[in-house]
Amino acid sequence: MRQDGAIGLRRLSRGHALVVGGTGMLRGVVTWLAEQGWAASVVARGRERLLALRDEAEGLDGSIRPIPVDYRDSGALRAELLSAVRSAGPIRLAVCWIHSTAPEAPGVVAEVLRRQSTPCRYFRVRGSPARDPSVPDSHDALLHGMGPPLLYRRVILGFRRDDGGSRWLTDSEMASGVIEAVRGDSERTMVGTTEPWSARP
Ligand SMILES: NC(=O)c1ccc[n+]([C@@H]2O[C@H](COP(=O)([O-])OP(=O)(O)OC[C@H]3O[C@@H](n4cnc5c(N)ncnc54)[C@H](OP(=O)(O)O)[C@@H]3O)[C@@H](O)[C@H]2O)c1
Repeated sequence: MRQDGAIGLRRLSRGHALVVGGTGMLRGVVTWLAEQGWAASVVARGRERLLALRDEAEGLDGSIRPIPVDYRDSGALRAELLSAVRSAGPIRLAVCWIHSTAPEAPGVVAEVLRRQSTPCRYFRVRGSPARDPSVPDSHDALLHGMGPPLLYRRVILGFRRDDGGSRWLTDSEMASGVIEAVRGDSERTMVGTTEPWSARP
């Protein structure tokens, strides 16, 4: 069941969006958000890739705001996100691709979002060659359990089966899948498949 009743994403005016881990396979999601008029704050460590992404948004309706921080440093991540909210307003949409090397980071992001009274859709992107990402984990329980104003959404990255074999998704397929999840405001989106898990590449 949707947590937010009939509030569709299209009915919200564009505003401040956050993409954590946005300079890699989610680059296409960041530029799509800027095309759509969002002010997108992007977390990653590498300044050069962040600045290149920001420059790509020149001339678009929206903008890209680099946040160069290591999300394994919870204190620094929290401070940077709070600063972004102060300067660009409440975050209405978050897309988070966070490695398991930072087990605290999903909760830090959620904590900042929950301080806002404004509803925020939190799309957590999961994908791993090591374990089936469609199996809910402790972060799913925590984030789903928080409830409004945090509206939790899951995007699961699987693999493709073709010609009797299988392969991992391309960056473009992953970015397109995340964009479709955001456009549809789906609670759970599967990109590719995870079944059977034994058929993965
Ligand atoms: N199911 C699938 O098919 C599947 C699933 C997952 C991945 N993959 C493949 O694996 C490739 C590599 O995945 P990836 O996640 O390593 O690369 P990625 O998506 O290309 O990059 C990860 C993003 O997170 C940022 N990041 C990483 N560690 C960070 C940290 N500690 N603090 C802040 N930001 C951090 C990176 O920027 P910085 O490095 O600058 O910090 C980058 O923006 C993908 O491009 C994809 O092809 C496939």
